[in-house]
Amino acid sequence: MTFHNEGRVRRVEIRSDAPKDSDGRCGSHRGHEVLVQAGAGIGSAIEDEHYTAQGARIARDVAEVWGAAELVLKVKEPQPAEVVRLRAEQTLFTYLHLAAAPELTAGLRASGATCIAYETVEDARGRLPLLAPMSEVAGKIATQAGAFMLEKPLGGRGVLVGGVPGVAAATVLVIGGGVVGLNAALIAIGMQAEVFVFERSIDRMRELDLVFGGRASTVYSSTLSIEQMLPQADLVIGAVLIHGARAPHVITREQLGLMKSRAVLVDVSIDQGGCFETSRPTTHSDPTYQVDDVTHYCVTNMPGAVPITATYALTNATLPYVLELAERGVQGALATNAPLRLGVNVAGGEIVHPAVAEALSADLHTAGHDLERKP
Ligand SMILES: NC(=O)c1ccc[n+]([C@@H]2O[C@H](COP(=O)([O-])OP(=O)(O)OC[C@H]3O[C@@H](n4cnc5c(N)ncnc54)[C@H](O)[C@@H]3O)[C@@H](O)[C@H]2O)c1
Repeated sequence: MTFHNEGRVRRVEIRSDAPKDSDGRCGSHRGHEVLVQAGAGIGSAIEDEHYTAQGARIARDVAEVWGAAELVLKVKEPQPAEVVRLRAEQTLFTYLHLAAAPELTAGLRASGATCIAYETVEDARGRLPLLAPMSEVAGKIATQAGAFMLEKPLGGRGVLVGGVPGVAAATVLVIGGGVVGLNAALIAIGMQAEVFVFERSIDRMRELDLVFGGRASTVYSSTLSIEQMLPQADLVIGAVLIHGARAPHVITREQLGLMKSRAVLVDVSIDQGGCFETSRPTTHSDPTYQVDDVTHYCVTNMPGAVPITATYALTNATLPYVLELAERGVQGALATNAPLRLGVNVAGGEIVHPAVAEALSADLHTAGHDLERKP
């Protein structure tokens, strides 16, 4: 099978999704032809020569890679100029976040291609193995970025997260105690903040309590419990997720009035539409804006700030799926790999993921794909 990977055309994104295995070799060692868009790995300190040394071929331009590939690997969702190149016989494997992207969904449906979203590949325990590595990175960045934005020169309150002897530490609220939330909380604990993690799953709160060992508190997440804590918060990190669906709003515009002046909101869930009512997507080059004197940080691609860490973290997780798709073909891989099957969002012109269909109020179509939703 021929597959290719390319850097994306968005301004800040500089990772490549180079398929290298644990020996550092790419899929070409398994007899597949690997096309890499020229310069795709530069941001992650992987030169074109590193790919060619492992047997990959460098493609001069986007037209060449999209024209030749059967399996297209990316990091972020395809841009409009890429969607029009997608063909029915191709498989696209990348982050898609379609619940908040009706136009992209329409474009993918029109292509007829099989589009598998990293973020909805789900294992037998309901975990998201291809979202987890980016969530680990984003969770850790969320606290670092939030702490930075609390500094006065960055427009913040002028509060040191860890405090000093005689001066209290900052209060950090993490809403959503999944992979992002745990990692955000661990960094906040490391910075010696006062940390509260809001969750809905009692089982998850039991796990978190064990991990925290008394260094952070878990709180059942409700409108009331969040409202009670907001007046104390210096930094609030939003990290909720309902698989495949648009993020619920856990803080409304009205509730911003409960917060301290120049407190910071970091909305990690922005790629699923944002979990604060006042969130809108931002970029690393212009990451924040103010609403009602509260700083909002809503960067959609937080791991793009650390491309070397992020590239290896992502490809460590995606490579087994990539090799299975390449070796068995898309139908063969989907027939036997239940987690991968749950990753299919759009195929044959139809939406085949229930949560995506529900979020977009579209018809769900499963015929012909034999998608058993639960492994
Ligand atoms: N911006 C970025 O760069 C970036 C990077 C990685 C992940 N993300 C996003 O971060 C979000 C979280 O990802 P994750 O991997 O931690 O997901 P996860 O599934 O591991 O965790 C989500 C948690 O939210 C909890 N939850 C759901 N509704 C809640 C509510 N109302 N109140 C409190 N908790 C609630 C769930 O019980 C779950 O534990 C996702 O939207 C993901 O796409 C963004």
